[in-house]
Amino acid sequence: MTTISDPNPTVRLEDFPADVAAPAVGQLPPTIAWRGGERGLLELLDQTLLPGKSAIRSCRTKEDVWQGIRDLAVRGAPAIGVAAAYGVVIGARAAIEQAREGFLKNLDDVGNYLRTSRPTAVNLGWAVDRMTRVARDAASPDGASIWRRLLAEAHVMLREDAAACRKIGEHGAAIIPDGGGVLTHCNAGALATVAYGTATAPMYVAHEQGRKFRVFVDETRPLLQGSRLTAFELAAAGMDVVLQCDSAAASLLRSGAAQAVIVGADRIAANGDVANKIGTYSVALAAHRHSVPFYVAAPRSTFDLTLPSGDAIPIEERAADEVRGGFGALTAPAQIACRNPAFDVTPAELVTAIITEVGIVKPVSRESVARIFD
Ligand code: MRU
Repeated sequence: MTTISDPNPTVRLEDFPADVAAPAVGQLPPTIAWRGGERGLLELLDQTLLPGKSAIRSCRTKEDVWQGIRDLAVRGAPAIGVAAAYGVVIGARAAIEQAREGFLKNLDDVGNYLRTSRPTAVNLGWAVDRMTRVARDAASPDGASIWRRLLAEAHVMLREDAAACRKIGEHGAAIIPDGGGVLTHCNAGALATVAYGTATAPMYVAHEQGRKFRVFVDETRPLLQGSRLTAFELAAAGMDVVLQCDSAAASLLRSGAAQAVIVGADRIAANGDVANKIGTYSVALAAHRHSVPFYVAAPRSTFDLTLPSGDAIPIEERAADEVRGGFGALTAPAQIACRNPAFDVTPAELVTAIITEVGIVKPVSRESVARIFD
């Protein structure tokens, strides 16, 4: 017989309120919230509609959560991870009446289903694995008690993500150039996490400290996470934001107007290679050419030590129509062939440092990456 013991028996659902939401960052509504206790549901801020409309997508089934992740209603690696944890909770509720074995079998099916929603951000699989481990280690014979433990764990993960991002901000604030400029690509902001963001966390902390700096934001074709989300959230927080086309990044770095680049990550391999939004690699190359430091900010949940290098990271290929046009307008011949990789891999040698919640990895190497997991 296998011995089972809860890895953290101090986590109890009774200690959480019925509604658990991301802490407020500036004027933004919470990215992710659980409402209604044990009979509750997951609420996602629908990021496909921002910045024009602030609407909530309610997820009552595992299919709702899968679709919310696939459609990018919730997106950004850490936010996808937390949403997937709640997806596991929702899917597992269907087998709550079952005894332990039946409950765990359904849980595996739910986790495997959610894993198929998007391939690149490792936080998704990380969250499913963690929830599965917690369920297997929970010393309960019945599905209902294991399920309550899972809901509590998802709440813990939500709070941990906000705390990790806050720490990233505290570790990284010193790299924000006083009176200078910083360039970012895509949205690794509060909207991409539970709160504060990863790349933007040092900016939020520096801004709170009253420091003056300008943030240059790449608009990030094809889905415009830079203009729709990053420019929106940083401007709403009162920062000095300048939006530019992606193709303006190299000339900006050459001009000297930005003294640092900070981006997020979807998956970081054991050697420090970084997968992030398509176009990140081009920015890293330009930064290297012009001797501008290139920083990656990410929590440890974004590292995948099972992959020796970035070559093994699965890259999501999205629909051709996102490139042929967008947001209702056709901007290319309707049948033109397209490539639409959603991410690219920046080799570790182009990354000056990785800012994590436990400190700064510098220089970036297999050894320095391993050290943050010691
Ligand atoms: O396709 P998206 O919008 O999910 O891509 C998001 C990014 O590439 C982010 O930079 C990354 O997930 C880090 S989020 C803190």
